[in-house]
Amino acid sequence: MSSFFLNKVKFLNKFTVSPMCQYSSLNGCPSEWHYHHLRNLIETGVGSMVVESTAVSKVGRITKKDLCLYNKKHLYSHKKLIKYLKKLRKIPIILQISHSGRKGSAEIPWIKKNKSLNKFHSWKTWAPSSIQRSKKWPKPKEMTKKDIEKVIDQFTHTAKLAFKAGYDGVEIHMAHGYLIHEFCSPVSNKRKDEYGIKGNNFKFQREVLRSIKKILPKNKIIGARVTGSDHLPQGIKVADCINLIQKLKQDGLDYVCISSGGIIPKTNMKFNKGFRLKMAKKIKEECKIFTRTSGCINDQKTLSLALKKYKLDSLALGRILIRDKYFLLKNKKLKLENELKQYNYCFN
Ligand SMILES: Cc1cc2nc3c(=O)[nH]c(=O)nc-3n(C[C@H](O)[C@H](O)[C@H](O)COP(=O)(O)O)c2cc1C
Repeated sequence: MSSFFLNKVKFLNKFTVSPMCQYSSLNGCPSEWHYHHLRNLIETGVGSMVVESTAVSKVGRITKKDLCLYNKKHLYSHKKLIKYLKKLRKIPIILQISHSGRKGSAEIPWIKKNKSLNKFHSWKTWAPSSIQRSKKWPKPKEMTKKDIEKVIDQFTHTAKLAFKAGYDGVEIHMAHGYLIHEFCSPVSNKRKDEYGIKGNNFKFQREVLRSIKKILPKNKIIGARVTGSDHLPQGIKVADCINLIQKLKQDGLDYVCISSGGIIPKTNMKFNKGFRLKMAKKIKEECKIFTRTSGCINDQKTLSLALKKYKLDSLALGRILIRDKYFLLKNKKLKLENELKQYNYCFN
C-alpha cells in the first residue's frame, strides 16, 4: 500500500489508529500504561496514529484520569512520549484535543460505565444550554460568551503545546456528545444567540478552528472528528454534517473523520460491520475533503469491502488492533510487508 501526503505530512498508508481514551493518566500526563498501549498500536503496521482525546482544561476533562495538555508538566511529558513513539516508527502522530462539556465529571468507564461522579467528587460541567445528558447526569452550566471565548483560547493553547511537543497535527473532537458536538446538535443546543443552531452558522466550531489555524505551523495538519448522525429523529442528520464540513473546509480544515452517536446515552445507533462507511462515502463525495471513518471495520472481509467499494482516503481502526495486533499485517494483499520485516515469515 502506497504512502501519500496530506499537506506536508507523509502518511505511510491509509490506516490510522483510532483514538482510544485510556483514563489512565498521572495528573494528566501519559503513564507507563500509555507507553505500553501506544507502543502496541504503533507496531500494527498503521500509516498514522491519533492519540486519545486530551483535555484542554481541568473542567474539560471527562474523568479525573484523562490525558491533559494545558501546562508545562503536561507539555514535557507529551514531548517525552512522542520522542519514544517516533523512535519506534516514523509515522504521523496526531493529538485529538477535546472539551468534555456536559459529559464530563464522569466515573472512569473501565471501573463504572456511563456514570457521573457523586456530589462529593464531581465538578460543575459546561454546555451550550443547561440541559442534562439524561436524568442521571447533572445539570451543566449554560456557557456565557465569555466562557465560549475562554474555551476557544484553551483549544488554541493546547494545540500550540501539541505542536511544541512534536505532534504532527491536532484533531478537534466535535463528536461523541462532548462540548463541540453539543453545540452542533439540536438535542443539546437550545441557545437563542448567535451560538445557537438557528441559521446553521456553526460559529463556535468555526471560531475554534480559525483560532488554531492562526498558530498552525506550515508542516502540521488540522482535522476534526465530526458527527454524521445523532441516530435520533430530532438529532443531527448527514445533511447537517455536510453543511458543517463545507464551512470548516472554507476555514482551512485538512481532513474529517466521520463518527456518530453519543449525544445522549441511548440512541438508535447499531454497531453493525462497517456501519459508517456508506455515510462517510456520501459526505466525501459532497464535501470533497480528505475523509476517514471508523466503526466495526474488524474482519478481513469488511476491510476489503471498505477499501474496494467505499474508497475513503483513510480508515481508522480501534478495538480490532487491540484484540488482534497483527490484523493488518496478516492481510498479504495490503502489502505492508515492509513493516516488521523480521516477522515476515510468520505471516505466510
Ligand atoms: C476504549 C475506547 C476509547 C475510545 N476513546 C475515544 C477517544 O478518545 N476519542 C474518540 O474520538 N473516539 C474514541 N473511541 C471511539 C474509537 O475511536 C472508534 O471510533 C470506535 O471504537 C469504533 O471503531 P472500532 O470498531 O474500530 O473500535 C473510543 C473507543 C473505545 C473502545
